[in-house]
Amino acid sequence: RVYSLSAPVDLLFLSSTAPHNWGVTFKSQCALKGTSVVIECQYSYPLLHYVLSVSWSKGKGESDRRQLLPLFDRSDHFTYVGNYKSDCSLQIKNVQVRDEGYYFFSFVTTLNTWSSETSARLSVKELAAVVQPSTVTEGGEVNLSCVSGCPTPGLLVWFRDGRLVKNTVFQARREDAGRYRCAVLGQNAAPSASVVLNVQYGPEKVSLSMSPPRDVVKGGPVTFTCSSDARPPVEGGGYGLYKDGHLVSSEQSHSISEVQPAHSGRYHCQARNGVSRRGSSSPEVPLHVQYPPENVSISVDPDPDAGGSRVNLICSSAANPAADTYTWYRRATPNGTTLQVGSGQVLSIASVEAAHAGLYLCRARSRLGENNSTELLLAVEHGV
Ligand SMILES: *[C@@H]1O[C@H](CO)[C@@H](O)[C@H](O)[C@H]1NC(C)=O
Ligand SMILES: *[C@@H]1O[C@H](CO)[C@@H](O)[C@H](O)[C@H]1NC(C)=O
Ligand SMILES: *[C@@H]1O[C@H](CO)[C@@H](O)[C@H](O)[C@H]1NC(C)=O
Repeated sequence: RVYSLSAPVDLLFLSSTAPHNWGVTFKSQCALKGTSVVIECQYSYPLLHYVLSVSWSKGKGESDRRQLLPLFDRSDHFTYVGNYKSDCSLQIKNVQVRDEGYYFFSFVTTLNTWSSETSARLSVKELAAVVQPSTVTEGGEVNLSCVSGCPTPGLLVWFRDGRLVKNTVFQARREDAGRYRCAVLGQNAAPSASVVLNVQYGPEKVSLSMSPPRDVVKGGPVTFTCSSDARPPVEGGGYGLYKDGHLVSSEQSHSISEVQPAHSGRYHCQARNGVSRRGSSSPEVPLHVQYPPENVSISVDPDPDAGGSRVNLICSSAANPAADTYTWYRRATPNGTTLQVGSGQVLSIASVEAAHAGLYLCRARSRLGENNSTELLLAVEHGV
C-alpha cells in the first residue's frame, strides 16, 4: 500500500498558469533524530489536467522502484503538507533512523499517472556530545564539542543535568561534574546522548573519629575511623592511622578489641588518592585509656639506714584517673592477723619502735577499682 490522498472536490480546478511539462523536483534533507523535517517537493503537469490523488512512497535505493515501502501510518508520523496544485511537500515528525531512505512522489490526474523518476534522499543523524577530557582534575580545562552529521545543524546549546551550560571551554570546578548533553536550539526534545564529566580532587575535610568517643576503659573495644571528601574516593590503602607519629594501620577503620593503657596517645589519620599523593591529615584525637590502679608499690622515705627515727611509707600506683583512696595494713608476723593501720598516700611513723615491725601493704582505689601493693618488710633492730 502507498500513502495516498484523494483530492477534495473543491480543490479540483483548472490550472490557470502556462502549460507545464510533467515533473517533480525535490530537495534532499538531513535531519537530526527526534526532530521534525519537511521534504520539500514541487510538481508540475500539462495544462488541462486535474490532480485527482497524490502519494508518497519510500525505497531503499536511489531508483529502487520495486522495493517501495508503504508510508501508511496510523499516527501522524507522515503528514502531506503539500496541495493539489504544485506543492507536494511531506512532513515527517519525530524522525527516526528507520526513516532514512529515498522518497518518491506520484500523482494521478484526470488524464494520466505520473511517478517521479528521481527521489528525495533523507539522511537521519544523531548529535554526539564530546566532553574532553571526560575525567579531569579540578582546575583543568574541559572542552565541550557537539558533533552532528548534518551540515548545518543550527545553533547548538549544552545542558548539564538538565541545566543550561554557558561556556563550552572552562576550568573544571567540582560542581561542573555531571551528565552533559547537547541539542539544537529550539529542539531540546531531541538532545544527544549524555556524556559524564568526572571532576577529581584530592582528599579534603579529613577527620578521625573514635568510638566510643571518650572514657575508654581498659579491656574494652575502641574503633578509629578515618573519613574524607575526595574524588575518586580514597581507597583502602590510601588511608594511614598514626599514633604519636608512627603508622599503626593502613585501613580506613582500625579496631582494638581489648584496649590497654599503652594504647594511650595522640592519633591522627592521613588520606591519599590518585590526585594527591601527599594527601591530607586529620586533626589529632587523644586517647586516654582509663584503668584501675596497677603496679601498686611502697617506697620508704627517708631511707631508714640514713638514721633518724621518722619513716614515711609512700604508696604509689599507676592509674587513670589517679587513685584517690589509700588504705594501709600491717601484719606483725607472716602468719599473724592483718590490721588496718592508716589511710592516705603517705603513712608516717613518727618514731619507729619494735611494735611497728611487720609486713606492710597498701591498697590504692579509684572509682574504677582497687589493687594491693606487694608486701614490704619493716624490720626494727633491737636496741633502737
Ligand atoms: C593489680 O595490679 C596488677 C599489676 O600490678 C595487675 O596485673 C592486676 O590486673 C591488677 N588487678 C586489678 C584487679 O586491677
Ligand atoms: C606496670 O608494670 C609493668 C612492668 O614494669 C609495665 O609493663 C606496665 O606498663 C605498668 N603498668 C602501667 C599502667 O604503667
Ligand atoms: C588487698 O589486701 C586486703 C588486706 O589483706 C584484702 O582484704 C583484700 O582482699 C586485698 N585485695 C585484693 C584485690 O587483693
